Amino acid sequence: MTDFLQLIPSAEGAPALLIGGEAVPATEYEDVTDPATGAVVAAQPLAGNAEVDRAVRAAGAAATTWAGLPGRRRGAVLLRWAQLLRENSEALARLATAEMGKPLGESRGEVERAASEIEYAAGEAARMTGQTIPGDLPEALVVTERIPLGIIAAITPWNFPIVSPVRKIAPALAAGDTVVVKPAEEAPFSALAVVGLLEEAGCIPGAVNVVCGAGPMVGAALVEHPGVDGISFTGSTSVGRRIAETAARRLAPVQLELGGKNAAYVHSAVDLGRVADEIVAAAMQCTGQRCTAISRVVVENDLADELVAALAARVDALTVGPGTDPGTNVGPLVSMRQQHTVVDHVQRGLAGGAIRASAERPVPPDGPYVAPVVLDHVTPDMAVATEEIFGPVLSVLRVEGLDEAIAVVNGTEYGLAASVFSTDMDVALRFMRGVGSGMVHVNHGTASEPHVPFGGVAGSGMGAFSIGDTAKEFFTRLRVGYLRAPAPA
Ligand code: NAI
Ligand code: MG
Repeated sequence: MTDFLQLIPSAEGAPALLIGGEAVPATEYEDVTDPATGAVVAAQPLAGNAEVDRAVRAAGAAATTWAGLPGRRRGAVLLRWAQLLRENSEALARLATAEMGKPLGESRGEVERAASEIEYAAGEAARMTGQTIPGDLPEALVVTERIPLGIIAAITPWNFPIVSPVRKIAPALAAGDTVVVKPAEEAPFSALAVVGLLEEAGCIPGAVNVVCGAGPMVGAALVEHPGVDGISFTGSTSVGRRIAETAARRLAPVQLELGGKNAAYVHSAVDLGRVADEIVAAAMQCTGQRCTAISRVVVENDLADELVAALAARVDALTVGPGTDPGTNVGPLVSMRQQHTVVDHVQRGLAGGAIRASAERPVPPDGPYVAPVVLDHVTPDMAVATEEIFGPVLSVLRVEGLDEAIAVVNGTEYGLAASVFSTDMDVALRFMRGVGSGMVHVNHGTASEPHVPFGGVAGSGMGAFSIGDTAKEFFTRLRVGYLRAPAPA
């Protein structure tokens, strides 16, 4: 057994579900494969309706005790958890790379990022503050307090198998909530491993439970479970919409982090090479499988030829290979299905009149690899200009002036992140105010920070932004108190 597999909680010699602080064996298992090699990583335990129900009950049983701990005590558990993530960084990184393919260096960065987000949430645990509001009666005091939302269903994707569950679990625990996590079926072991470490950190049994299995079965069962008080979901826009519809029937709050079609507008630059560096990094990290990946470049006509050449040169210099290879810049996609989707998008773009500016080159034949692509002369009506591709593909659209740029940037159903590169602050500010996205980056790529609110609007999300001090807006609810001394006898 390789070291990283030892991080996966097990029962009866096989990976196990985590329910009520126990490693629970499943009745059915399904192999998870390493996209780089096709080799089996391990068999994931599949939950049925009975296990989902048991997990929600376990979260319910832990709720009063966990919520009753002082915030600073909950924060202390979180700080120990962050430390355990760092101590196990190498094994966690290897596990994440084995199950979903990203380069090891990126997986190490993901562990560090997860630890940083936990530390921020740990501080927040003692800051669940309310307000005092002057009331109409001079002798009365009006207050609001934040109380835990309750039992949270956390449904997460495979592209950030460590950070995604952590980004929901840490603020939930800080707020006094308990959690049932349903990780993506492509990469469930990272979630099992980090929750295993949370129990080691001293979290109470049942505060966080993990059930694995197919989205339409296990995920849907959680969303429909009447014991679940709120649903935090990250994934595709179509599934997010369905979850919101289902949750709305019983008025359960949702926090949705969905897809993106993020654009970088290049207006002007001192050094176009540096701009190309920022764009390529933000586009190709995680093989383009990031919700905030830059996937469109909107560029002024007079800069376009030079920028496209710079983008193509950088993209062609990236090494495509297994994530465990130290020289790899771009790992395999998560699955053959994802590879088919990406290749199909590129072919449709080329058939529609786009021009490939990057080189066609061989990639390792034994996995879902795709050499990074720059498509030039893309027009706003093409699918490669409007649909999320989730792969290493940059579509370049040429424009004339800020107004056209903003119209093009806003021409999709999404509203997650956007970048503007300009030496003119007036242009940058007008871009920031004009685009319909939750996050705007001026003169850098679409990278976020571990203490800053994160989220999208329209097709990219709904509900409170995650991370930062906004997370508590989802993970708590308000109670209002009108306090008045008893009337004198
Ligand atoms: P998905 O949205 O189907 O999966 C995300 C999570 O939702 C997984 O845990 C899955 O099991 C669960 N799920 C699926 N159907 C469900 C349902 N009916 N009820 C409850 N939970 C359900 O995304 P998928 O199929 O992995 O990827 C498809 C596309 O979605 C990608 O190509 C990409 O465009 C987008 N995507 C965006 C992500 C982001 O970071 N915003 C992450 C993953 C995918
Ligand atoms: Mg799906």
